[in-house]
Amino acid sequence: MRILAIETSCDETAVAVTEGRRVLSNVIFSQIDIHKEYGGVYPSLAKRAHQEKIDPVILKALKISGVKMEKIGAIAVTAGQGLVVALEVGLEKGKELARVYRKPLIPIDHTEGHIYSCFGQNRKGKPAREFKFPLLALIISGGYTGLILVKDHLKYEILGKTLDDAVGEAFDKACKMIGLGYPGGPVIEALAKKGDPGFLKLPIPMRAHPGFDFSYSGLKTAFYNRLAKMDEKKIKQNLCSLAASFQETAFTALEVRLKKALLTTGVKQLVVGGGVIANKVLRKKIRKLSRDLEVEVLFPSSEKLVGDNAAMIGVAGHFKYQRGIYLEKNFDSLDRIARPDLKMWVTNPRG
Ligand code: KG4
Repeated sequence: MRILAIETSCDETAVAVTEGRRVLSNVIFSQIDIHKEYGGVYPSLAKRAHQEKIDPVILKALKISGVKMEKIGAIAVTAGQGLVVALEVGLEKGKELARVYRKPLIPIDHTEGHIYSCFGQNRKGKPAREFKFPLLALIISGGYTGLILVKDHLKYEILGKTLDDAVGEAFDKACKMIGLGYPGGPVIEALAKKGDPGFLKLPIPMRAHPGFDFSYSGLKTAFYNRLAKMDEKKIKQNLCSLAASFQETAFTALEVRLKKALLTTGVKQLVVGGGVIANKVLRKKIRKLSRDLEVEVLFPSSEKLVGDNAAMIGVAGHFKYQRGIYLEKNFDSLDRIARPDLKMWVTNPRG
């Protein structure tokens, strides 16, 4: 069955057409140019841009896929976790299409989309990755950082998540503090290549803390305080080493939690999703850790599935639909847009 998937949880208006795990089209309109002068996502502008772009992006996704709306079997939509005013645009559009074309509507949690991003395929069914449950998912993005034990399709146990800021957000803020642009992750990564990670000794968040939670606000503050003690000239002269020190500390904190979770759970497969896994230094660190612990590691199956996209929502939608988790006529329960942390949408929403 073909699924039309919609994702508007933050600053990408994204629509995809998928069939099972195969991605037939994956169109992403990024709002980065709109938000960069504010150093972060400006909610009312995000909402307006989603409203302007959603219809053209839907039409483009259908056109590229070669599938007519009448041949779409269900609509999948990101219904939770994200910027509420942005989420609402996609959700309303999903409901409208489901009503007009009399299709089932499948609600997807944004984080679960990132988990399934590692299992998307091209039209030929490549890559043919298998699910090896129970698996561990590390999801690292601008709005979420967490470790999730996935016992089977849609059976999640959240082992730990950030108590404050997400790791991607910390990169964005650190970059702003050194006077550079948004989004900060790619800028910090590029600078860090030429810097000395030992230049600034920063505290590794939650290193000795029990459990699997993360915290990034303390690292942000520590970085801010260290910068406050430097004059502008010193900051400018040492941008690369500042970036490298921040990046190294942020990733060591991730590695510490990840290693502990892999050892504790004993899983044989790790999937890592979310925008921060675009970072090549982090990929290398995680590959090494997985090799050492003899765990298979999967990253999103293509570059276009790393950041926010709707293909991953469609792939997750396939597994939900198969398990009867969708709405047919009454979409009212979806009006409770919340931050469900994967709980709200894994039981049958019809009751
Ligand atoms: O998953 P994503 O596209 O959107 C959210 O759902 O948040 O993640 C965006 C986040 C941003 O905070 C961005 O700075 C970060 O991912 N990011 C990176 C890199 N590329 C993007 N962080 C570190 N290194 C990168 N290369």
